Amino acid sequence: MCGIVGYIGHREAYPIIISGLKRLEYRGYDSAGIALYDGNDLKVAKTKGKVSDLIEKSSKEITKTGSIGIGHTRWATHGAPNDVNSHPHASNSGDLVIVHNGIIENYEGLKKELMARGYTFKSDTDTEVLINLIEDVKKKENVKLGKAVQIALNQVIGAYAIVVFDKNKPNEFVIARLGSPLAVGIGKDEFFIASDASPFLEYTKNAIYLEDEEMAIVRPGKEIKVRKIKDDSLVVPYVQELQMNLEEIEKGGYEHFMLKEIHEQPRAIRDTYRGRLLSNEGIIKMAGVEDNMKTFLNANRIIIIACGTSWHAGLVAEYIFEEFTRIPVEVEYASEFRYRNPVIYENDVVIAISQSGETADTLAAIKLAKSKGAFVFGVCNVVGSSIARETHAGAYTHAGPEIGVASTKAFTTQITVLTLMALRLARAKGTMSSSVFRSYLYELELIPQKIEELLKVDEHVKNIAKQYLLSTNCLYLGRGYNFPVALEGALKLKEISYIHAEGYPAAEMKHGPIALIDDRMPVIVIAPSKGHYEKVVSNIQEIKSRKGKIIAIVTEGDTAVKEIADHVIEIPDTEEALSPLLATIPLQLISYYIAVMRNCNVDQPRNLAKSVTVE
Ligand code: AGP
Ligand code: GLU
Repeated sequence: MCGIVGYIGHREAYPIIISGLKRLEYRGYDSAGIALYDGNDLKVAKTKGKVSDLIEKSSKEITKTGSIGIGHTRWATHGAPNDVNSHPHASNSGDLVIVHNGIIENYEGLKKELMARGYTFKSDTDTEVLINLIEDVKKKENVKLGKAVQIALNQVIGAYAIVVFDKNKPNEFVIARLGSPLAVGIGKDEFFIASDASPFLEYTKNAIYLEDEEMAIVRPGKEIKVRKIKDDSLVVPYVQELQMNLEEIEKGGYEHFMLKEIHEQPRAIRDTYRGRLLSNEGIIKMAGVEDNMKTFLNANRIIIIACGTSWHAGLVAEYIFEEFTRIPVEVEYASEFRYRNPVIYENDVVIAISQSGETADTLAAIKLAKSKGAFVFGVCNVVGSSIARETHAGAYTHAGPEIGVASTKAFTTQITVLTLMALRLARAKGTMSSSVFRSYLYELELIPQKIEELLKVDEHVKNIAKQYLLSTNCLYLGRGYNFPVALEGALKLKEISYIHAEGYPAAEMKHGPIALIDDRMPVIVIAPSKGHYEKVVSNIQEIKSRKGKIIAIVTEGDTAVKEIADHVIEIPDTEEALSPLLATIPLQLISYYIAVMRNCNVDQPRNLAKSVTVE
C-alpha cells in the first residue's frame, strides 16, 4: 500500500517528510506528493513517479519552507497514476488538504451528491471525494475540522488512513484509521504521523498506533486525544517505546517480506472483494464486467493467458468458470500462446492475469489475441501497468505491492477476482440459483477470517519443514480445484528453496510418477473433505505402501487420513470451489520455512526477478 508521512512542530517539515517518504519506498508506489504550510501559504507539489521526481518538482514549483507538512506515496486504486491523481488532494476551497491510504468504496455515490451541490473535481480519485465531503460537512454543519472529519467518515464505506489539514486552523492535524495502518510519533512539542514508524524512529521512539475506527486531533504542545469515530468516545491511547530497528519495521516485524505478505492475505482478499461483494444486497458489482456483460454472455469460450503463479490462478479459474458458468475455458502459457498461431474465434474472450502487469510474454500474448479480434480482460495488481493499459477492460486485485519475488497474496487475490467474475456471470447466465449464489457470497466473505485462523498453524508447519529441509525432491498432489494448488505449491518450493518439486493430478501417480516413491520422497497431498476425497485417500494409501512420506492437507476434523499420513495440516472447511484459497496457505508456509532453514534468500531467490519484463 502507499505511504503517509506528516510532521507538525518546530522543525522544517520538508526534509523530514522527504526522508520519511524514502523510508517508505519499500512499500511500493507509483506517485509522490507533498503539501507544506509556512504560516501564510499552503504549497503543494505532486507527481507521477518516484520521490526523486518529487524532489525535483518541489524545487521548481514550491518554496520548501514551513514546519507543517504532509507527504504521500501513492499506490493507485482509483484513477491511473498521474500528476493530477497524486496526493495530497485539496478541497474545492483550497483550504483543506488530505493524504489517504486505502479505498473509499462508496465514492461514486458521494461524488454524484457533491457534484449536485456544485463541487468540481480535478482528479479521478476516491480521495478527492473524501476531502470535499469533509469540506461540505464542515460548511453545512458549521463545525470544526475534527467534527467534520468524524461526520464524514461515518458516511464512508471503505478502508482509510488519512491525515487532514485546514490552513485556517494551522496548529493541528486530524488523523483517522480504518483498515490501513497509521502510527503517531510523539516528540517534544512536535508530532510525526506515518504509515509505520520508520520515518520518525530517528526522532522519537515514543509511538501510538491508531486502532481501526479511531481518530485523533494532533496539536503540538497538547496531549493527543484519541476518539472512536463512531460515537466520539475517548480512548486511552497505548504509548509504546519502540524497540524495532528500521529493517524490522519495513517488514512489519516479520523476518521476510514473503512471510509478511503471506500474513497479509486476509486483508488483501478483503480489499479485493471490498465494494464488489455486496452480500447483504446479494449482488456482485464489477464495473469491468458490467460494462462488457454482453461480450461475456456471448462468449463461446474463455482463453486464459498468464505465466507462473498467475497461470496457476488461471487453472483454478478454469474449474470455477466451467462449473459456475458452463463456458468452456482453456488455460494457456502466455509464453507458448504468443509463438504459435492460435485459433481465436470472434466470440472468444481472453482473460490475461498478471500481478506485475509487466510480464513480457503475457503482454505479447495479449497483443496477439487483440490482433485476432479477441476481447481481452485483464486481472492485474498494478494500476496503470502496461497490461492494465493494453487490455480492453479489467479488474484489479487490491493486494497492495508484492515485494517478495515468490507470489503469495497475488495468487489468492487473483483467485478472488476470478471467483467474483465467475459468480457474477453465472447469475447473469442463470446457470447458478440465487440461493447457491448467496451461499458462495457468504462463504467467500468468511475466507479471510478462516485464513487468519489457519495462519496459526505456523509452529506446526515449521516442525514439519524441519524434517524435510534436506530433501532433494518433493511431489505435490491434488485433484480437481486443488490440482492447480499442487502445481503452485511445487513452484513455491522450487523457486525459494531450490529443491526440485513437481505437482501432479493425484490420479496421474499410477501413470509414471509412482515409480519415484520411496522412503526419501516427501509427498504433499491436498485432501480436503470435499473434492474426490475417497479417491485421494486411495492415492495416499498407494504412496504409503511404497514407503513414501506423506504430508496431507486435510479438512479440520479429518480422521481417516490422520491414520495413514506421516503429518497432517488441517484447514477449515469451505466450499470445494473456494478450497484453493485455504489449501495454498500451508503450502506457502512449508516452502517459506524450508527455504529459511536452508539459508536461502527468500525474498530475492537466485536467478529470479519479480517481474519478467524480458523474453
Ligand atoms: C511466482 O512466485 C513467480 N514470481 C512467477 O512465476 C510469476 O508468477 C510470473 O513471473 C508471472 O508474473 P506476473 O504475475 O507479474 O505476470
Ligand atoms: N484510493 C486512493 C487512490 O487511488 C489511495 C490509494 C493508496 O492507498 O495509495 O489515490
